Parts: sequence; C-alpha cells; structure tokens
Amino acid sequence: MKKTVICPGSFDPVTLGHLDIIKRSANMFDHVIVGVLVNSSKTPCFSIDERIGFLKEVTQDIPNVEVVSFDGLLAQYCKERNVDAIVKGLRAVSDFEYEFQMAITNKKLNPQLETIFLMANSESMYLSSSMVREVASMGGDISNFVPKCIHDRIVNRISNLRNH
Ligand code: PNS
Repeated sequence: MKKTVICPGSFDPVTLGHLDIIKRSANMFDHVIVGVLVNSSKTPCFSIDERIGFLKEVTQDIPNVEVVSFDGLLAQYCKERNVDAIVKGLRAVSDFEYEFQMAITNKKLNPQLETIFLMANSESMYLSSSMVREVASMGGDISNFVPKCIHDRIVNRISNLRNH
C-alpha cells in the first residue's frame, strides 16, 4: 500500500536542514506532503505565499513532493488526506520535549497517526529558521544555511525589513 507522510512546519524560511528532512522522506515514502502551517506561538517574518513559493522552488525536482498550506489542526488534516505519519527532524535534546508534546497530542487527536523522527544531519544540528533570520538581519552570511536558489531573496527581504 502507498505510504503518505507529511513534513509540517513554519518554514519561515525553509533551511537546508528542512530540505534534508524532506529529501530523506521522499526517498523513504511514496508521497510527501510539505505542510506550511500556523504556529500560534510564533509571529512569521515571511508570508504564507512566500514560504510556499520558496518550498515549491527548492523541491521542484522531487516528483513525489507536494507543498500545501492549511489552517487548523494538523491531526485533522492528516485524517482528511489519509496521511500515515508525520515526519519531523530532531536536532538537539532541546527539541525533544516540544516535539514529544506535539507527537503525543497529535496521537490523542488522531490515534491512527504516527510521528517519525529523523535525526538531523551533522551540518543541520544547530540550524533553525530563527537563527537564519537573526544572522541575516545583522548582515551575516547565511549561504551555508539556506538553499542557493532562494538565498538572495531571503537576504533582500530581511534587509528590507531591517531598513524600514
Ligand atoms: O516549524 P515549527 O514552528 O516548529 O512547526 C510547528 C507546527 C506548525 C508543525 C505546529 O505548530 C502545528 O502542527 N501547527 C498546526 C496546528 C496544530 O495542529 N496544533 C497542534 C499541534 S500539537
């Protein structure tokens, strides 16, 4: 039977760490939905459309990846789309408690739904979208952190924010 997974996140913006998890998921499963979702505890820097655009661009060569966005609960969406599992990247121990809490909540809301954690690769262990935003906002080099094809647009966008 075909296996569908979802890689959910804020992707504000997508990093090389996110892309690594998406590619590894696409190698393991038949269909990968990348879900750009609202994290109610964060105020985004990039609009949903910008984040979707970046993700579509950096995954355009991976045929079994679909990029979507929706409001509401992840567990409910997974039920509607017959998603078998959520795939999340796990970096340091500091990620664990938050991710564990979300995995348990999603399981309570949708008992069929598994959460699978992939260990971040060694280059992405320290990487986060918030770190990318902070480094870029202070004029630092983010070329090792984000996909090359969207690098300039991220830098321009963040420096525009800084200058206004
Ligand atoms: O990249 P993030 O911000 O750590 O991702 C968190 C995200 C967006 C996956 C999470 O906040 C989420 O699933 N939001 C959708 C609403 C929802 O289902 N909330 C309950 C999750 S336990």
